[in-house]
Amino acid sequence: ASIRDIPTEVPGPNRVQNRQLPAPAMPTDGFVNTPDTDPSLSANRIWADGIRARMAGSELGNETVAANTLSTSEEVAERIATAVAAGEAWRALGAEGRAAILHKAGDILEARRADLLEVMGSEAGKVIEQGDPEVSEAIDFAHYYAESAKNLADVDGAQMHAVGLTVVTPPWNFPVAIPAGSTLSALATGSPVIIKPARQARRSGAVMIEALWEAGVPRDVLQYVQLDGRDLGTQLVSDPAVGRVILTGGFETAELFRGFRQDLPLLAETSGKNAIIVTPSADLDLAAKDVAYSAFGHAGQKCSAASLVVLVGSAAKSERFRRQLVDAVSAYDVGSPVDGSNRIGPLIGPAEGKLLSALTTLHAGESWMLKPEKLDEDGQLWRPGIRDGVKRGSEFHRVEYFGPVLGIMTADTLDEAIDIVNDIDYGLTSGIHSLDEDEVQQWLARIEAGNVYVNRGTTGAIVQRQPFGGWKKAAVGAGTKAGGPNYLVGLSEWTDAPVQS
Ligand code: SER
Repeated sequence: ASIRDIPTEVPGPNRVQNRQLPAPAMPTDGFVNTPDTDPSLSANRIWADGIRARMAGSELGNETVAANTLSTSEEVAERIATAVAAGEAWRALGAEGRAAILHKAGDILEARRADLLEVMGSEAGKVIEQGDPEVSEAIDFAHYYAESAKNLADVDGAQMHAVGLTVVTPPWNFPVAIPAGSTLSALATGSPVIIKPARQARRSGAVMIEALWEAGVPRDVLQYVQLDGRDLGTQLVSDPAVGRVILTGGFETAELFRGFRQDLPLLAETSGKNAIIVTPSADLDLAAKDVAYSAFGHAGQKCSAASLVVLVGSAAKSERFRRQLVDAVSAYDVGSPVDGSNRIGPLIGPAEGKLLSALTTLHAGESWMLKPEKLDEDGQLWRPGIRDGVKRGSEFHRVEYFGPVLGIMTADTLDEAIDIVNDIDYGLTSGIHSLDEDEVQQWLARIEAGNVYVNRGTTGAIVQRQPFGGWKKAAVGAGTKAGGPNYLVGLSEWTDAPVQS
């Protein structure tokens, strides 16, 4: 038995403006989130030990990768043609028929939870504590989108049309949940999918896709590929037969994709530079714990990660918050996910470029509250760093680093703190720790972010409870949030329904 501890945070309002779309019925009355594995149960700890023992030698997903690595332009064209052709029968199954298969996919993902954790740890350095909620999220997507799609048939006065072939290009940082969400949403609406998981997480994506095949999604309808060469990626994304591209990745990648084809139907979740504001009324100990987890979970390699804390008024002078934060972060062991005591795993690759510079160089007026420490030769393992005294308008204030480094800023008033956060080009997640309802309302009214969290960390959105999606430069072509009631509406095309006579 695994009991999920459902957080009691106030979910933020849906900040993303929807286009003119028909409103579906609330899709999923009775939907229940999948519980994470409860590590306080000894049986679960033994189960996790078994997974960790298999990580080092894991071969999972290898066969699928090997069988689907394409190296010529002809192969890519053939995959596209096959997927388009197979899409007709998939659409003809109807929402009910597809939902039955997607629900089964959810069940198989649950049955393969251990495999998914093994491959994510082995390939992408995910510790089980981080991978487990990700598997739950993938399962939630399967059941949620299966039911959501049924409701699309009931929208008054409008008729839904699948967009057709959907190309999914997910990132390596959530190697199961993000590819699963993008793929399952498109499949639910009746579109065939070609997915190309990130190279660094190709086996994890493969194991997830194998579960969907096993559930009965035909292999022509859902095609897994790896591509030998950048040109093949360009070909896949820009082929005119492609009805939608779902990208999760850096803002620059979205810009690159848009350059491929003028009318590229791109839906992209991109970068984030997220902050948590802490006011004097906050529970400072809780704030420190939430900041530590949001900043350094998965070594800070989340688009949703907290990269800044803005301390307001007397909280800025509080020794307590700083001490608690340093204690909390110092308590995280860093190392291989094979060792169960490690809470932070390796970076996906050696720290380089702007991240390396953020881990090694201070700017004017800054000091290390906690100095980052490189633990291995090539720079993949780092004890996290915290920079104090980050200045408004400085590089650290605005740039996304995607790694284990956090900056502390200060503001005299809550309004000034909100201005500091809204100065940032991205608006993905944002948090406030405050026990004063007026402060919370003031913040909610002004903050520019897609996902807003009160007295909670900024990572780990939960399907249906906290639909996920950004504002400003954090989203390109996106109008609706993943795991929310409008996501499938936004993925589809709509015409007026024929008048019944
Ligand atoms: N959905 C993830 C989170 O909320 C990010 O992709 O952390």
